[in-house]
Amino acid sequence: ENEKMNDDEMSYDLVSRPRRLRTTPAMRRFAAETRVTPSELILPVFVKEGLSEPQPLASMPGVVQHSMDSLKRAAAEAVELGLSGFMLFGVPETRDAVGSAALDPEGILNRGIRAVREEVGDEIVVMSDLCLDEFTDHGHCGVLDEQGRVDNDRTLEIYGRMGVAQAQAGAHMVAPSGMMDGQVGVIRAALDAAGREDVSILAYSAKYSSAFYGPFREAVDSTLTGDRKAYQMDPANRREALLEMQLDLDEGADMVMVKPAMSYLDILREVADASPVPVSAYQISGEYAMIEAAAANGWINRDAAVRESVLSIKRAGANSILTYYATELARWFRDEN
Ligand code: PBG
Repeated sequence: ENEKMNDDEMSYDLVSRPRRLRTTPAMRRFAAETRVTPSELILPVFVKEGLSEPQPLASMPGVVQHSMDSLKRAAAEAVELGLSGFMLFGVPETRDAVGSAALDPEGILNRGIRAVREEVGDEIVVMSDLCLDEFTDHGHCGVLDEQGRVDNDRTLEIYGRMGVAQAQAGAHMVAPSGMMDGQVGVIRAALDAAGREDVSILAYSAKYSSAFYGPFREAVDSTLTGDRKAYQMDPANRREALLEMQLDLDEGADMVMVKPAMSYLDILREVADASPVPVSAYQISGEYAMIEAAAANGWINRDAAVRESVLSIKRAGANSILTYYATELARWFRDEN
């Protein structure tokens, strides 16, 4: 009935015309269900020992390995732009089998945390990656047993001490990303035993073994040969993400994360629907690199693709997003508001 042609005007008598809400930029802004603000963004940063100048990364154009000075400037800028967090990764000069530099208060990551915390105080959430892969000479996220397999429980003991070292350096929040069973519980207990009940844990709950981590391995000068399939999740699995989330919550996670983001938006939606705590998603190095590479070839509109990618992660349920675009997005937001 309502699709009958009206003879004089050559139009259909449609009751609903969704296009009415798409007519002008102002109308579209009004009708938008999702928007991304700087307070939802967390900037991941790399600080490398021994650098006097920031060093560009070939596979991540626009992203650098920071010197201590440029790291502090980046942190100040993150505060000024209103980002919610600053996630630090350290790249040490020397590595060993057990990742000793991760526990050393003078290790690069702990020094970086201290410098950033001195710079920003409580103005932004200072977060640190809690994992051994940047610190071990074999590049795995944990220590190895005699057969060369990652030894879950011996790694846990080190993670606990690493968490305390990061807390003492000034991290507000530690982010265990090694996918060892029981890591959140052991780190929570270690922090509490050290009197650091105030330090929170962002658990990389559903972290998949992804081909898209490629550029990150350059960013941290990774020495890994082989893969992380014996500890990171199989991309084929969905239920397992919910199990990992539940375990992390039971062990005391304050927030949970899904990673990578774009190839896992279905997982993100499910975790977001099930989680009683805030959910983060990590738009990882390969996601960044793909956008940059396609844009450099003139195949996509870079800025539009950046916005769409991050918007989709928010729409899928993320309360906060770790993205190498955080500063740039926040600058656009500031200029448009
Ligand atoms: C492990 C870690 C990785 C990333 C964050 N933490 C790499 C890995 O699991 O191999 C990836 C981040 C990215 O790709 O942007 N410490």
